[in-house]
Amino acid sequence: MRDAAPQTIYLKDYTPFGFDVLEVHLIFDLAPNATRITSRIRFTAKPDAENRDFFLHGEQLKLIRAKIDGEEITPTLTETGLTCEVPEGDFTFEAEVEIDPANNTALEGLYMSNGMYCTQCEAEGFRKITYYPDRPDVMSTFTVRVNGDLPVLLSNGNPVDQGEGFAEWHDPWPKPAYLFALVAGDLVAHSDHFTTISGREVDLNLYVRPGDEGKCAFGMEALKKSMKWDEDVYGREYDLDVFNIVAVDDFNMGAMENKGLNVFNSSAVLASPETATDGNFERIEAIIAHEYFHNWTGNRITCRDWFQLCLKEGLTVFRDAQFTSDVRSAPVKRIGDVIDLRARQFPEDNGPLAHPVRPESFQEINNFYTATVYEKGAEVIGMLKRLVGDQAYAEALDLYFARHDGQACTIEDWLKVFEDVTDRDLSQFKLWYSQAGTPRVKVEEGWSDGTYSLTLSQNIPDTPGQLGKQPMHIPVAVGLLGPNGDEVRETQTLELTEARQSFSFDGLAAKPTASILREFSAPVILEHDVSRDEQAFLLAHDTDPFNRWSAARDLATQTLLAMITENAAPHADYLDGVLSVLRDDDLDPAYRALMLWLPTQSELAGMLADRGVTPDPMAIWTAGETLRQAMAQHAQDLLPRLHSQMKVDATYRPDAEQSGKRSLGSGVLFLTTRLDGGTLAKREYAKADNMTLQLAALNALLRAGQGQEELAGFYSQWQADRLVIDKWFGLQVSLADPDQTCIVAQKLTEHPDFHWKTPNRFRSVLGPLAMNHAGFHHADGKSYELLADWLMRLDPVNPQTTARMCSAFQTWKRYDADRQALIRVQLERIAATPDLSRDTTEMISRILDA
Ligand code: BES
Ligand code: ZN
Repeated sequence: MRDAAPQTIYLKDYTPFGFDVLEVHLIFDLAPNATRITSRIRFTAKPDAENRDFFLHGEQLKLIRAKIDGEEITPTLTETGLTCEVPEGDFTFEAEVEIDPANNTALEGLYMSNGMYCTQCEAEGFRKITYYPDRPDVMSTFTVRVNGDLPVLLSNGNPVDQGEGFAEWHDPWPKPAYLFALVAGDLVAHSDHFTTISGREVDLNLYVRPGDEGKCAFGMEALKKSMKWDEDVYGREYDLDVFNIVAVDDFNMGAMENKGLNVFNSSAVLASPETATDGNFERIEAIIAHEYFHNWTGNRITCRDWFQLCLKEGLTVFRDAQFTSDVRSAPVKRIGDVIDLRARQFPEDNGPLAHPVRPESFQEINNFYTATVYEKGAEVIGMLKRLVGDQAYAEALDLYFARHDGQACTIEDWLKVFEDVTDRDLSQFKLWYSQAGTPRVKVEEGWSDGTYSLTLSQNIPDTPGQLGKQPMHIPVAVGLLGPNGDEVRETQTLELTEARQSFSFDGLAAKPTASILREFSAPVILEHDVSRDEQAFLLAHDTDPFNRWSAARDLATQTLLAMITENAAPHADYLDGVLSVLRDDDLDPAYRALMLWLPTQSELAGMLADRGVTPDPMAIWTAGETLRQAMAQHAQDLLPRLHSQMKVDATYRPDAEQSGKRSLGSGVLFLTTRLDGGTLAKREYAKADNMTLQLAALNALLRAGQGQEELAGFYSQWQADRLVIDKWFGLQVSLADPDQTCIVAQKLTEHPDFHWKTPNRFRSVLGPLAMNHAGFHHADGKSYELLADWLMRLDPVNPQTTARMCSAFQTWKRYDADRQALIRVQLERIAATPDLSRDTTEMISRILDA
């Protein structure tokens, strides 16, 4: 289906809808190719409305009939909706429409997956279900009747009636249409219950396909933990009699927070020790928490318009990160999040797709569910909390919930509660929402007469459409260490508000070593010439776990950059530093494991480009391999002991303690495999009784050019498990050598199990292709072509997933002229595809404009 001509929507053009919706009644008569939706919607004109046009969104709908106050009407239909004359005051609009869920491959609106009906309405999918003012500032109560010949029929809110072939639901909480959901299918429930803090009983159900019952327990525990945590930490209680979660195989995203009926990608909720890794378990726990937390931050208080998306997403990511820090290890969570921010958000913020946390315009809103809105959006909240303090943060949130419950809000509303609680002027801080680009903070140090001074200067680079930016309000957490490693000044937050500003610390006995940007207190790039000696000192002594890790990361970066650009040998101080951390049994294994990870190849490419050096993907790859080999040799004597120390004898639990041990054990196995020709990994693979250890061993083998037998065995063992087979596809591409990557990926796309219309399967091959840096950027350009071929094929089927994957090309201007030319050919080829979706058109044209 062809999209309407692309149109740019601007924040500054916001106008309220001229009518309120008093209530919505929907009847669904389900049929795969002809589902009928009968709607009865009570409207009332707003007395003071500027805009009295009655326009209802509607796309790809077959209108059977429409009525106003019982009288049949003939509305004017366009590609995007319906208009008609309406009476003054209150009136009832009714419509009957027909849609074709079985052929809805875009997975937006009402669609089918394995015989199950399912909806996805955020952001603008409800308009593919019926005619409606499909905008988040229109909130109403919904009563829904589902007629269908399926055992499970679900919608939002509380169940009010059910019988043979029907179910009726009522959601008493006014909500925007994007939170509407319907699920119908042959599903089984894993059930439990939760008693809220005020003593209300809530039924909890996790609905899955028959056969998946054994993968529900962990998700259910995570849900109960989340419900309790939100009561304890934010004072937020659940507000319906039931909370349902449904797992679906075909889903564009991870999960969706529909009121009382969350819909999850199977990969984001189903897990058992045999089939899911520790990493999967941790992600599932976080996503369950995230979607549950939306019940207050997103649903009870929603967004006025989609420009305010970070109001719910940034805040909810921040809340789920707090939750994970509380139930697992705070430093490990923080480090993981910063790795992720640098890998995904920094490239976005420093390339052609850069946009503010609150964008000012878009063509397709689905393209703005980005790392910037989510992850930088969460960082902004972390900075705000740091600046006002924990107490004021808690008061501001209480005020936010009290003042805005039931409303559709803006970032202005959000900041105002902080201003009211603290009496601070946050207008400069607000620039974090409007200025794109990662600020660079340059550090200069001074020392004289017992006084240490820090001069910080900030510079925010130009980004598409935004030149010449104002200084921002940047919290820089700093602590000082004395020569013997003692902390002589505890962490304090310096508030950098000017372009250049000095801070001094007096009364010091000796020149200190500064630990700057502790806990990564702001999403900035530090420009600080730190000697390797000083880094090694911080790695040995910093009391801030984040910065201690950061010192290791910086040392790794320095040695890798020297290896890449000067052909240097691996620096001994890095190898020694890492070794002593690995040896330190007082440190959490999970934390030690993080010390083993090198900066990603893509990150190194970005740093080289920043320094004006054209990155050579092969040289970057080779340096990483050489350094890992050197690490293995350097730690040779320690590895066997460490590996056996990390053995877990107890029954498998995916908690922080056990998974930390497995994580370090796997890192050690990875290094060992470079030395022993795979002997240990083969043994470990054979006896692995959980997916974490099985995959770790298989990864280690494949990375060492071995393990073909195990790979085949893995396939036959797990053939019937779609989530494990996704891993089987993915790991082959991510672990392939650079000159094999494209060939392996291409072969896998011919595999009979490559069901490319299922987003998880599509992403399992083409995601790792784009992520395998040296393989993707192979000089022959074949990987670029393969990815483009598949994006062009997927676009007419599923524009959303296609568009999201175009970001693989966002860094193209970093590379040499030959590679740029090869990429340009592919971008232009995609752009020239007839009937290219609005989603992909917008992404490709923004990337091409670089
Ligand atoms: N509201 C989103 C899901 C969504 C995103 C719907 C884009 C429509 C378009 C949901 O709350 C979400 O953010 N999900 C994330 C996972 C989360 C843990 C960050 C996702 O699906 O990736
Ligand atoms: Zn979310």
